[in-house]
Amino acid sequence: MSAADRYGVIGNPVAHSKSPDIHAAFAKQTAQALSYERLLAPLDGFASTVRNLVEQGFKGANVTVPFKLEAFALADVLSERAEAAGAVNTLKFEGGGIAADNTDGVGLVTDIVVNAGVAMRGKRILLLGAGGAARGVVLPILAESPEQLVIANRTESKAAELAAQFSGKGAVAASDFPSLQSRFDVIINATSASLSADLPPVPACVFGESCLAYDMMYGPAPTVFMAFAQQHGAATRDGLGMLVEQAAESFHVWRGVRPDTRTVYADLRSKL
Ligand code: ATR
Repeated sequence: MSAADRYGVIGNPVAHSKSPDIHAAFAKQTAQALSYERLLAPLDGFASTVRNLVEQGFKGANVTVPFKLEAFALADVLSERAEAAGAVNTLKFEGGGIAADNTDGVGLVTDIVVNAGVAMRGKRILLLGAGGAARGVVLPILAESPEQLVIANRTESKAAELAAQFSGKGAVAASDFPSLQSRFDVIINATSASLSADLPPVPACVFGESCLAYDMMYGPAPTVFMAFAQQHGAATRDGLGMLVEQAAESFHVWRGVRPDTRTVYADLRSKL
């Protein structure tokens, strides 16, 4: 009898990662024979850690902070969405090579469109931030054909660079925060401000009653961004669903099977 296929999440730190619980639940639910471990890589040892995993016969891995850019550089083959994101969160080891993908953006879009039931087609979308987290979600958002995607950033030049990079893929524009003067249907906080309990300086007029304000961060309580958006009439959602959906997409990349995310999401939510 062959042993279960091995996967894991490579990070530093990685002890906090919920991915092993999520993938164990997916494997059980879909009756896939696989194991999934936390893999702590030295800060200067990502590439050697990956080579080691390949030698040990691992089938793939997720990649988290701070290695997503190194994973991009290490890959032999990049998916279109990894190429667009400039970062990689999913590796698949096959045929002696490393195929790389990025499932973060599709995870966000699935959580908004399917789980929250908020369509983006024909809507006005505002993306706050222009760092790695923002870049990773631009292509999947544009694939939903919004009326317009506006990328707003404290340092406007970074938003402008990002908008220029994706100008061939849909209606995308850049802005600074003070110039935002109209309502949006979906507002996504991809800044790292919530990490330090800061509020990005977004004017209150962007929110309204039929607006969904989404924070990529999650926790037991609403983030400061979510609290601010609620005060101004918006419905809110945190990033726990994105976490589960990006994992489901990775699972699909590896196994060709799509797990049901609802029970896994509910279980994680109850344990926050
Ligand atoms: P990540 O990979 O999490 O996106 P990053 O690449 O360092 O991290 O990018 C952080 C993003 O959050 C940037 O868009 C940053 O804005 P600047 O480009 O102007 O630095 C944004 N950011 C961080 N703290 C912020 C704050 N307090 N208010 C507004 N934007 C903030």
